[in-house]
Amino acid sequence: MINIDLKGCMSFVKEEEYKNYLEKAYAAFDTLASEKGAGNDFLGWKHLPSSIDESLLGEFEAIKKSWQEKSIDLVVVIGIGGSYLGAKCAIDALSHNFASLMKTKNNPDIVFAGNNLSQDYLAELLELMSERNVACVVISKSGTTTEPAVAFRIVKQFIEEKYQDASSRIVAITDAKKGALKTLSVQENYKTFVVPDNVGGRFSVLTPVGLLPIVLAGLDVRALVAGAKAMEESLNVKSEQNPAIQYAAMRNLLYSQKSKSVEVLVNYNPKFVFLGEWWKQLYGESEGKENKGIFPASVNFTTDLHSMGQFIQDGTRIMFETVVNVKSADKDLKIASDEQNLDQLNYLAGKDVEHLNAMAMLGTSLAHIDGGVPQIALSVDRVSPESLGALFYFFEFACGISAYTLGINPFDQPGVEAYKKNMFALLGKEGYEKEAEELRKRL
Ligand code: PA5
Repeated sequence: MINIDLKGCMSFVKEEEYKNYLEKAYAAFDTLASEKGAGNDFLGWKHLPSSIDESLLGEFEAIKKSWQEKSIDLVVVIGIGGSYLGAKCAIDALSHNFASLMKTKNNPDIVFAGNNLSQDYLAELLELMSERNVACVVISKSGTTTEPAVAFRIVKQFIEEKYQDASSRIVAITDAKKGALKTLSVQENYKTFVVPDNVGGRFSVLTPVGLLPIVLAGLDVRALVAGAKAMEESLNVKSEQNPAIQYAAMRNLLYSQKSKSVEVLVNYNPKFVFLGEWWKQLYGESEGKENKGIFPASVNFTTDLHSMGQFIQDGTRIMFETVVNVKSADKDLKIASDEQNLDQLNYLAGKDVEHLNAMAMLGTSLAHIDGGVPQIALSVDRVSPESLGALFYFFEFACGISAYTLGINPFDQPGVEAYKKNMFALLGKEGYEKEAEELRKRL
């Protein structure tokens, strides 16, 4: 379902260097398989695809149906980081490019909130909500993250003021036992779903965190899970053919031996912009620790060839690219001939637009290799629920192997607390008086 091609790296590395890193990746694979490595109490994601219960999907569909019966046409999904990016990625990838602007709609519009602290964003969300029939899914594993908590307070108040049946328009996804959102959900009698204890935020797309919004958007969740399940089965083999092992070995070799400290995830399809965003959190939070790790970046081609292309071709030689190649378009569209040919495009008449995209990709990859940028290519046949499910699981599994290859615990995120401590001190939160005093001296 996913093909990996490392040819675009081979002029940068020696065969024996790659073999050496394959050995390291095998050892990391064993660590992940043994479930005894660092962070091993957060390995619940490994078996999610094969354990997703049909009755859970049925519960999601029941919510969709009951909201359809209320004619709800806007669902606000509140969450940040791992409680946001997977659902956003899947909904963007699998929906019509112009879903919210189409006149014929069978599904509610899904909008996201709680992923920033912009006042204008929230105020304008309220303006939108006042024109629409609204429900909300609030997602926070910890139940205490500031951005979603603030957004939820505002959205909840709006829903309570506007609707008699407010509590049936709100679903919460949070910890099974603890956290402010759990307490509130019990008190308000919200329908709730659990983020398992042993699944970290950035690995949670195949839990209710990702799956409920995907169902509400009317997408084929079973096909997505099937794609992930096929990957779960196929990656569980310690072999040179395993694409997750190959990916982990090559990216660690490029980083550790060839000074390539930036990995750029490249797509040629606007539906995959948020695949890059989801992937950046997955790899950035998993590997960027102890002053180590590859900096994950992403670009959207051909768009960004007209902005970032110059740097990639010619700038500081610190990067390699991982190109997500979608082999076929879903819809037909050929370039027509034009009698006048003023735009001089008749040489392309009769060709699919996707053929141009493919040639742009090939030409760019070769130019970037010539410019000193190694290329890893990952191919999927189409943008489909199956291929996206496969990509989710592939990147998660490869991330575990890759971080262990680097000697890092992939499943914690000690660094994300530092800014929060300062923010709470600056906002005057109880318990942060000492930090506030220290900060005042620096301002
Ligand atoms: O990966 C992580 O754990 C974080 O980035 C979280 O996803 C993010 O902070 C959201 O946390 P929560 O779901 O607890 O609100």
